[in-house]
Amino acid sequence: MQIFKEIESEVQSYARSFPVVFNRAKMEHLYGEDGTEYLDFLAGAGTLNYGHNNPLFKPLLMDYIEADGITHGLDLHTKAKGAFLESFNEKILKPRGLNYVMQFTGPTGTNAVEAALKLARNVTGRENVIAFTNGFHGVSLGALAATGNSHHRGAAGVSLNGVSRMPFDGYMGDEVDTTAYLEKVLSDSSSGIDLPAAIIVETVQGEGGINAASFEWLRNLEKICREHEILFIVDDIQAGCGRTGTFFSFEEAGIKPDMVTLSKSLGGYGLPFAVVLFRPELDQWKPGEHNGTFRGNNFAFVTAKAAIDHYWSDDKFANDVKRKGEYITKRLNNIVQKYGEGNFTTRGRGMFQGINCINGDIAAKITKAAFKNNLIIETSGADDHIVKLLCPLVISQENLTKGIDIIEKAISEVCAKEHNIPEESDYFDDVKMAS
Ligand SMILES: Cc1ncc(COP(=O)(O)O)c(C=O)c1O
Repeated sequence: MQIFKEIESEVQSYARSFPVVFNRAKMEHLYGEDGTEYLDFLAGAGTLNYGHNNPLFKPLLMDYIEADGITHGLDLHTKAKGAFLESFNEKILKPRGLNYVMQFTGPTGTNAVEAALKLARNVTGRENVIAFTNGFHGVSLGALAATGNSHHRGAAGVSLNGVSRMPFDGYMGDEVDTTAYLEKVLSDSSSGIDLPAAIIVETVQGEGGINAASFEWLRNLEKICREHEILFIVDDIQAGCGRTGTFFSFEEAGIKPDMVTLSKSLGGYGLPFAVVLFRPELDQWKPGEHNGTFRGNNFAFVTAKAAIDHYWSDDKFANDVKRKGEYITKRLNNIVQKYGEGNFTTRGRGMFQGINCINGDIAAKITKAAFKNNLIIETSGADDHIVKLLCPLVISQENLTKGIDIIEKAISEVCAKEHNIPEESDYFDDVKMAS
């Protein structure tokens, strides 16, 4: 561990919560150098929806490398890119009635957000963008301006301009429809809010604390965008690629964004890969106007295509995610009722759920206790008060049960300590903990 202390920057974050040297990974498991098996409920912060080193994709990637397939191709047409585009168009876009072109951006999510915001501003000729409280869109300066978190914003070193913040769904309490406020300020020429180029939103805020917008709220948002000729951007970088039970997180709401950003699990194998999708009329880029050396990742084209072909050719996988999501909901509701003393609540949808522990200190104690039982799970939210379940979507039912059992045990231990009462032990007698 010494070398990490010696020369790796202090900026490291996840490594602080899980101070182990990892060496190998397979589907929902990570393995330490010493061979210890960990169940992964962090999954690359939503990058490993299809697990680590998915054995369905690995041979295809190995074959591609073995055959000297293109590794780096700038934005040249490659066979791998063409095949990915075909699959994405036929199996993702067309069945959903979505007519989008795809822009390959630099390889990380924030690159896709930068491109989307830049294009929206160029197309509309307007500077302002509306983003929401607790939104997270990345940490490069353009995307950071749209991100809410003060810890991240504080590191910018320059003023973060061009974004107006509006309250997300539920921010003012369940009774207040925050889109009514948005509509009001956009309709009032004296509100002080400039007509924006775009509204950017996550349907379920991941880093912001698993806040799920209602479908009605999302539909209202779309309506407001149409009425005021504002571009509607869904940042589906974390909530997309099946996490909520459909490929795009907005499908069930019945909305059609003008632009969609995707990254994280899109590459299928944890490989860096990001894109922006947008209506063809918005494709007003001049050649090379927005570029980057790593636009499109040919290895990721191979594994992204494999993921689409294998998991998204029919409804089987989506239905399985929905079923597991319902199981998670049931278990979390039960845990909250049993230990939360009326304070804890559940949140999220599909396999994108969490427990609001009200305070970050308790949530940290819970994730720490879970790690002692070899479960890797993180917190999110403004005060890191949400225990966030983000396991690979391909996790077996057995390991999903086991992971939630570990969370339950951790919560029972922490809550017992907080209240100084002996913890319940009989419940776990039949639970085999990872050793
Ligand atoms: C919704 C959303 N947008 C953008 C980003 C930024 O992606 P990246 O960290 O790959 O730059 C993230 C990362 O967590 C995200 O969750």
